[in-house]
Amino acid sequence: MYTYEELYKLFSNHLGKQSFSKNPKELYEPIVYSLSQCGKRLRPIFTLMACDLFEGNIQKALPQALAIELLHNFTLMHDDLMDQSPIRHGKETVFKKWNPNMAILAGDALYVLAYDYILQADLEILPDILSTFNKTALKACEGQQLDLNFENRKIVSLADYIEMIRLKTALLFGASLKIGALIARASTEDTQHIYEFGINIGLGFQLKDDLLDLYGNEKVFGKKTGLDIIENKKTYLFTKAMATADPETKELLLDYFHGKELPEKEKIRYFRKIFDKLDIEKLTNDAIYNYLNTGLEKLDMIDCPEERKQTLKNLAHTIISRKK
Ligand code: IPE
Ligand code: IPE
Ligand code: MG
Ligand code: MG
Ligand code: MG
Repeated sequence: MYTYEELYKLFSNHLGKQSFSKNPKELYEPIVYSLSQCGKRLRPIFTLMACDLFEGNIQKALPQALAIELLHNFTLMHDDLMDQSPIRHGKETVFKKWNPNMAILAGDALYVLAYDYILQADLEILPDILSTFNKTALKACEGQQLDLNFENRKIVSLADYIEMIRLKTALLFGASLKIGALIARASTEDTQHIYEFGINIGLGFQLKDDLLDLYGNEKVFGKKTGLDIIENKKTYLFTKAMATADPETKELLLDYFHGKELPEKEKIRYFRKIFDKLDIEKLTNDAIYNYLNTGLEKLDMIDCPEERKQTLKNLAHTIISRKK
């Protein structure tokens, strides 16, 4: 069994061997820039780990892992433009460093490039891999649209929020693992279990991302603190606050999100004060652990020796206790 560190190295080497640098350089420079940031590579590593769990040949999973990382970077490039995020990995985002048109086009090209790698799958499993990949990419667009719609919607229930993050984030975690299982020719039942493990870890992952957006250390997290509040995002923090606040506090929350204009820093401070009063940080952590545990239950259902599951368990724990 390979550890996270070993797979990180293996994947990074493989990524480093690809040559994305072509002409016109204006199109490819942002692609190289985006792929050379210190991303955590969680999704491609999940693909490799799932393949390894079911005793598949991880060399065969490398192109698919790459396709997943390209898809992920494409969504980030467009997401930063949509969210007006100035920094990622502690560096300027593509639309800031260059311009919005270049972020759109480089993102599109990244997504197309991903298919060159998908196509390297054995013909026997290609239809399954391709349909999983396409379904996931389309669902991510649906989730991203809901995320945008919710910026202008006052009432967003916790169930609405969970469905939105399932689409925009969690399904890609599930698909990354599922594709690894398909490459290793795991049974249909086990492929479904690992898919559901991934979806639950993905839900916990996004809740943690929402938490770090406000409570994280900007230098470590590498993204601008409080941006979700500035952008009126309906995060877990906000939806949970709305679900637990008294009517008066609820009015205040809505008022300052959609009514009164406050300077950025003041708006962040204002929300943080209300969230702290409602103990939102703890409530969010509780929800994250619930998703972790549900995910681990799915992993338990997989029919293979327990010790083979340890690296996936470790990574699941690392993901939900991460600082960046
Ligand atoms: C960021 O994903 C996008 C979200 C779904 C919140 P990651 O935090 O995994 O980003 P990288 O891969 O480390 O850059
Ligand atoms: C979006 O979630 C995740 C994607 C599908 C790209 P966020 O908008 O919260 O991701 P970050 O915080 O910018 O990485
Ligand atoms: Mg964003
Ligand atoms: Mg976003
Ligand atoms: Mg975020």
